Amino acid sequence: MPFFKIDDQQIEFSPGQTVIQAARDAGVYIPHLCFHPDFKAHGSCRVCIVRIKGLYRTACTTPVVESMEVININDEVQQHRMQLLEMLFIEGNHVCPSCEKSGSCTLQSVAEFCGLLSPSLPFKYPDKKIDASHADYLLDFNRCILCELCVRASRNIDLKSVFAISGRGLDAKLVVNSDDGKLVNSAFEKSDRAASICPVGVILPKQQGFKTPIGHRKFDVIDIDKRQDD
Ligand code: SF4
Ligand code: FES
Repeated sequence: MPFFKIDDQQIEFSPGQTVIQAARDAGVYIPHLCFHPDFKAHGSCRVCIVRIKGLYRTACTTPVVESMEVININDEVQQHRMQLLEMLFIEGNHVCPSCEKSGSCTLQSVAEFCGLLSPSLPFKYPDKKIDASHADYLLDFNRCILCELCVRASRNIDLKSVFAISGRGLDAKLVVNSDDGKLVNSAFEKSDRAASICPVGVILPKQQGFKTPIGHRKFDVIDIDKRQDD
């Protein structure tokens, strides 16, 4: 098989694979948020950036080329990721100690992996809503990072398009497709793939708050050397 390198580690790949796909197959972790192996790459969060020939590239959209040399972990790349993560933290309302997803949140764990302990920029405290209209699920829009995983899951797997992103730039927000924008009046069901895809604490099941005790949560038990988030 042809090979390439990530941080001096030789990795085999299949033609057509992206850097992140080949890395995953080899057990090499590249931090990411909007990538999920079940879906076509989205390329929006840019947390998976790596350096190739001196340029920053997103590992989820860049095809591997034989003998390519990829820098995944060094101070410069991690610093770049931290700046992106910092913006996500200050643009939302992420109150980790009181969030049910704490310990199982991909944003939190990627920040920890990259060394971001607390943002240096001021928080924006945007005015975001909570939708508790549905009997089985709660939507807390304060934590949405606009990764569009729920949008893709609902559209491509559930064939419902319950979720969509409305607006652009700082005005972009997650919306629910129903007459009044409430989840209860949408086609959403708890068996939907979209119900379990959110990497942060937006789409949460009701009646089971803080079910998994500290020490047993997803990122409490994951082996940091063999981690994959999904
Ligand atoms: Fe991503 Fe969750 Fe926001 Fe959907 S609700 S866009 S899955 S962060
Ligand atoms: Fe590659 Fe989001 S994971 S851009």
